This record gives sequence, C-alpha cells and structure tokens, in this order.
Amino acid sequence: MKVLAILYDGGDAAINEPRLLGTVENKLGIQDWLAAEGHELVVSSSKEGPDSDFQKHIVDAEVLITTPFHPGYLTRDLIEKAKNLKICITAGVGSDHIDLNAAVDHKIQVLEVSGSNVVSVAEHVVMSILLLVRNFVPAHEMIERGDWKVSDVARNAFDLEGKVVGTIGAGRIGYRVLQRLVPFDCKELLYYDYAPLPEAAAKAVNARRVEDLKEFVSQCDVVTVNCPLHEGTLGLVNSELLASFKKGAWLVNTARGAICDKDAVAEALASGRLAGYAGDVWNVQPAPKEHVWRTMKNPLGGGNGMVPHYSGTTLDAQARYANGAKSILENYLKGTAQEPQNVIVGLGKYETKAYGQR
Ligand code: NAI
Repeated sequence: MKVLAILYDGGDAAINEPRLLGTVENKLGIQDWLAAEGHELVVSSSKEGPDSDFQKHIVDAEVLITTPFHPGYLTRDLIEKAKNLKICITAGVGSDHIDLNAAVDHKIQVLEVSGSNVVSVAEHVVMSILLLVRNFVPAHEMIERGDWKVSDVARNAFDLEGKVVGTIGAGRIGYRVLQRLVPFDCKELLYYDYAPLPEAAAKAVNARRVEDLKEFVSQCDVVTVNCPLHEGTLGLVNSELLASFKKGAWLVNTARGAICDKDAVAEALASGRLAGYAGDVWNVQPAPKEHVWRTMKNPLGGGNGMVPHYSGTTLDAQARYANGAKSILENYLKGTAQEPQNVIVGLGKYETKAYGQR
C-alpha cells in the first residue's frame, strides 16, 4: 500500500526538535511502523502544480495524509485522477482543503483527528482578542524601536471587561473560547451557529444565541470565527456583513482565511470600521509575500495580529494529532471501525453536520 503524506518542511528546527512531528523530516513518527508493516510512505512538502510530488504520487496512492498547516489542495480534478485513493486523513482539524463533495461522489473517506488541537486554538483566540483590544503589537514594536510614548499606544488600548464578545460557530473551539472568556467579566457572550448549544452548556457560560448574522455582528465588540470552511461560510464575512459590524470592532479568525473576504477586511481595517484583525489562517497557504493581511493597519497604524498558521500546531497538539492520525491509519489497515467523531465523509456521504446544512 502506498501512503502519501504532504507535510510542511521543518528544516533545522525539525532536526533539532523531534517533537515537531508534523514535518517532512519527522514524518508524523509513522515511517518505521509503516515500513515494518510492508507499506510505502512518501512524504513531501511539494504540493503545487503538475510537477509537484503531490500531483505525481496522488495517482496511485491509497492513503493521503495532509495537514491544514500546509494544505495539499485535493480538487475534484485530482480526485478523478487518484484511481487508488480510498481514505484521506487530516493530521489536525479542518478538511476544507479536500473537495468533500467530490470525495462523497467518489466514495473516498475523509477523517480528521477531531478535538486534537481545539484547546491550542482556543488559547490562541483568547490571546489574539487580548492583543487586539489592548493594542499590544504596536506597544511592543515601539519598545523594540527604542521609543517610549505611552499615549501613542494607550490612545487605542481598552479592557476586555465590559465588552460583548461573540463567536461564529460554537463547536469544540468556539465553546472552549466562550469557557475561557467567562472570568474576563465581559458584558455578554454571544454565539451564532445553526446548531444550538445544549441548554446546560449555554447556561454554563451564560451565552446567548443570536439567529440572524447581521443582528449578531451588530451587537459584538469582538467577533471570533470558529466554524469550518464550506460552501455556506466561504466569504461569509464580506463587505456587506462588515458594514453591519459595530464601528471599531475587533475580528479574530483562526478558522479559515477564506471565510473572510481578503480585500473587504483590509479595507475595513484601513477605514477604521474594524479596529483590528488577528488570526493565523490565510486564503492561500503559504501566504504570498505581498499578501495585504501581512501589513494592513488601522488608521492609527496598529490593529494587525496576523501570524503564520500555527495556533493548532503547538508541540502539545502535534503529539495528539500524530497519534490520532496513526490510530486512524491502524483502524483502516485492520478494518476496524473508526471513531465516529473523526469521520467527516464516510463511504459516499457526509457523517458530520458541521460542514454545512444538507
Ligand atoms: P466543530 O465541528 O467542533 O465545530 C464547528 C461548529 O461550526 C459547529 O457547531 C457547526 O454547527 C458550526 N458551523 C458550521 N457552519 C456554520 C455556519 N455557516 N455558521 C455558523 N456556525 C457554523 O469544529 P472545531 O473543532 O470547533 O473546529 C472549527 C474549525 O476551526 C475547523 O473546521 C478548522 O477550520 C478550524 N481550525 C483551525 C485550526 C488552526 O490551527 N488555526 C486548528 C483546528 C481547527
């Protein structure tokens, strides 16, 4: 059996830090095991264009392992060429880089390591909310420059206490964000999700559901995006929706870059409609050097909390998703049932309700 894994290059960091398991160098820790079982493992970061290793090896691979941090985009075209492909395993959470409808049509299963990095992301969201609201990045940059002008940063720094924070998507990550915000004494915690939280769960964090999205954003000082990318969320935060945001709201998106319209966000930040935008996910990954989100600023020269896609790939998370990817593969090899929570697409149908209402 041929297993193809598209992972990110770890370089010297991965050679010096073996816990960077999700890299080309450390191969999710599965190489020796697969070799002992008599299987072939091809690992590469080369994923774009017809000459990439991804496109070369997908034609006869039976198993594809990808990671959202360096997504191998498995389009319908490629699925049609992948005659042996039976199962796609996402080492992490979020399988939008795979054309899931095409996987359904071709009876290719898609599994994720659900829950593996949800705390990692929730912590990053809370940090990003705080760094925007408190105007942290410009304050730190000032210090590195050798300056000391308290008013220049204090003029745009606020407390999170007393603000209204809302999450688009209240699943594993969104709910953990709400839980972590409880001690900050926000004025209100809101959520927008077609799946209502169980009553006890909503009560435990005192979260109120708002069913209309424009209505929801118009009430929030901070909006955090925590839903998967699918047909119903692509470009969801566009110029029309941004016009309904409170003026000077902060937006944090660690879900997927393409849920927010790239140019609409940059314009909203430049005009001051948004006071800040932070996150780690981009509409194309790796993000090109000239991507506007790298350098966009609010009218006071701050409000940018962008980083590369790493919130869900902490060393703690890598241990969990490497183990999880291995168990999915073991189950596949033995023909044992998969854990239901990991199955996104089963044989010919969606097994989750999180990737859109069907
Ligand atoms: P989950 O499946 O537990 O929760 C997703 C929630 O979003 C569900 O409650 C679902 O009903 C809701 N949802 C779906 N479509 C929606 C819509 N149109 N409007 C409002 N709500 C909607 O997923 P989990 O574990 O919370 O992860 C969410 C997403 O976060 C992943 O799909 C992935 O894209 C992203 N993620 C990012 C990571 C990073 O490193 N930046 C790491 C892990 C996940």
